[in-house]
Amino acid sequence: MTMNDYFSLKFEDENLIILDQTKLPEEETYIKTDSYELIARAIEKLEIRGAPAIGVAAAYALALSVKNINSAQVEEIFFKAVERLKSTRPTAVNLFFAINKMVEVYNANKNSGNIYEILIREAKDFHSEDIDKCDKIGEIGSKIFTKKSNVLTHCNTGKLATAGNGTAFNVIRTAFKKGLVNFVYVDETRPLLQGARLTTFELMKNNIPFALQCDSAAAYLMQKQLVDLVIVGADRIALNGDTANKIGTYNLAVLCFQHNIPFYVAAPTTTIDRSLPTGNDIEIEFRSENEIVNLYGKKIAPDNTKTFAPAFDVTPAHLIKGIITDENIYFFPYNFMQ
Ligand code: MRU
Repeated sequence: MTMNDYFSLKFEDENLIILDQTKLPEEETYIKTDSYELIARAIEKLEIRGAPAIGVAAAYALALSVKNINSAQVEEIFFKAVERLKSTRPTAVNLFFAINKMVEVYNANKNSGNIYEILIREAKDFHSEDIDKCDKIGEIGSKIFTKKSNVLTHCNTGKLATAGNGTAFNVIRTAFKKGLVNFVYVDETRPLLQGARLTTFELMKNNIPFALQCDSAAAYLMQKQLVDLVIVGADRIALNGDTANKIGTYNLAVLCFQHNIPFYVAAPTTTIDRSLPTGNDIEIEFRSENEIVNLYGKKIAPDNTKTFAPAFDVTPAHLIKGIITDENIYFFPYNFMQ
């Protein structure tokens, strides 16, 4: 298997092509669409997921919303698409960063007569910037490895979660290529199993040795001194470094504190929310109870079971040893600029 035989999304023939991640690892099925509504649904259903990938998909969706639209209707349809995309998922700030950027470009060029081409160009630039940021994160982040290490990661932060080679995953991949990763432990990441279904898929594609574990195995792993460092991605980082990421990330940070294991976050600068002083105001997405009481279409809890289903949690900054971005590695205390 080779590294480049899959992608999260691609723009081709005036359509967006998305790998349907809900079907992985069994099937690599691609969805081809030029409908912003279908892209919005794909984001909601996690067919496309991961903060940076959601942002890029939304940028293309907004451009496509005005494709072949009569100029009298462009404004109404564009802003309808803006509202629709904003409503898909609340936590990943990359989505809102991308939407705001597209709105800015729309407002500056709306009378130009070729708004679709201008918006597509902007979406393509945004796409290329994400590829570039991922490469920088991988290279910069590999510097945290001081010896050949065993790493634990949570959720999926690879090519599937971004438009490029990933964030935390790309740090691991780059360090592996430099001979600095011995073994990777992968949290299965309940309820939607992004670790079990997606990160394992990507590790295999890269020939990186790994073991999949239940989320609840992390404490034992650390107690047995089997892991040297933990690295995860982020959906939104506040100015003080508080970080929202997939539910279960905070558990890992607390465990790292207890076991004196460095806990790192890797994310592009587009994941820093410049409007938020702390993580207290990060909106946490709650998902449907079906995702907890069903596993692969089979009920695993009695009828009428109530659920508590946050999709993300917020790790306080003081538990994070370093935040790796495309610009630098920052260390606690964090003070990102507004
Ligand atoms: O619900 P998901 O699968 O979109 O959640 C993804 C995560 O929590 C990732 O860790 C985060 O978006 C960073 S992806 C580079």
